[in-house]
Amino acid sequence: MPIIGVDYDKCTGCRMCMIECPRRYFINESENRVFFEDIDNTCSLCGHCIAVCPEDAILYEDFGDEAFTFDGIDQLEKIVPYDNLYKFIRAHRSIRHFKKKEVPKEILMKVLDLMQYAPTGSNLRLEKYVVISDREKLKAISDAVIETLMQNPGMRDQYEESFGILKKRYEIPVFLDAPHVIFVYSMLDMQLADHNIGIIITYGRLAAQSLGLGTCWNGWTQIACLESKKVMKLAGIRGKHMGAFVIGYPNITHKRCPPRSRKPVKGLKET
Ligand SMILES: Cc1cc2nc3c(=O)[nH]c(=O)nc-3n(C[C@H](O)[C@H](O)[C@H](O)COP(=O)(O)O)c2cc1C
Repeated sequence: MPIIGVDYDKCTGCRMCMIECPRRYFINESENRVFFEDIDNTCSLCGHCIAVCPEDAILYEDFGDEAFTFDGIDQLEKIVPYDNLYKFIRAHRSIRHFKKKEVPKEILMKVLDLMQYAPTGSNLRLEKYVVISDREKLKAISDAVIETLMQNPGMRDQYEESFGILKKRYEIPVFLDAPHVIFVYSMLDMQLADHNIGIIITYGRLAAQSLGLGTCWNGWTQIACLESKKVMKLAGIRGKHMGAFVIGYPNITHKRCPPRSRKPVKGLKET
């Protein structure tokens, strides 16, 4: 268990760990002090105790990662003010034109690193990651995705014409000639798996944008994976839940953010 205890030389008994812990560990009412109850395997390792302790007194090991802090952690709205985030998100686009240049491994690692800070239900973090950069392999998967989708009458009606156009435009149509595809999959068939994967991919796409990269979700592959083991096998992934996005250097610039239809919101109160 990575959370291994409380450093009592540092602990002042402020009880912040106890108040913050979603599972209410760190409670010893009789001794009226914070103490380290034997944490059983219901601890979700969310690390909120580490995050809130003013004395950095929570002891842990084996996370494979270290806690860190920075100036402004208590005023995140100053690190990324809403106006900047608004522009960053409004200008976030699906990119379908890529330079041939490959993304260096250390840059891809930065994207994959931030993906792994995405929240997941119960902090289970069971997802697995695969990057495919081999063009032959991407071509084989792309062909298998199209073949699979064209066998489904609904998908054929919707996409036959589009794939005809994409095949003329791209060598690897499903992946829009991007140099890399990142797959995220989960072998555990749990209810929230698709949400987790969706959030992870969104973190990755935003991280990519902050590094000057472009991305596009790849729902086609996801649907084909649900219908064909061949696509899964070629991609080297397993399970019932997966998502994929293409990533590379964009070969297009956008000049403005298009409008979006606005949805009515129920329940907002005048304050
Ligand atoms: C779950 C999901 C799956 C998607 N699948 C594909 C896809 O297979 N191919 C594609 O070209 N775009 C795909 N897209 C991109 C959408 O078409 C795109 O987000 C939408 O048209 C809005 O454009 P924008 O992302 O540039 O704002 C997908 C987007 C999402 C959220």
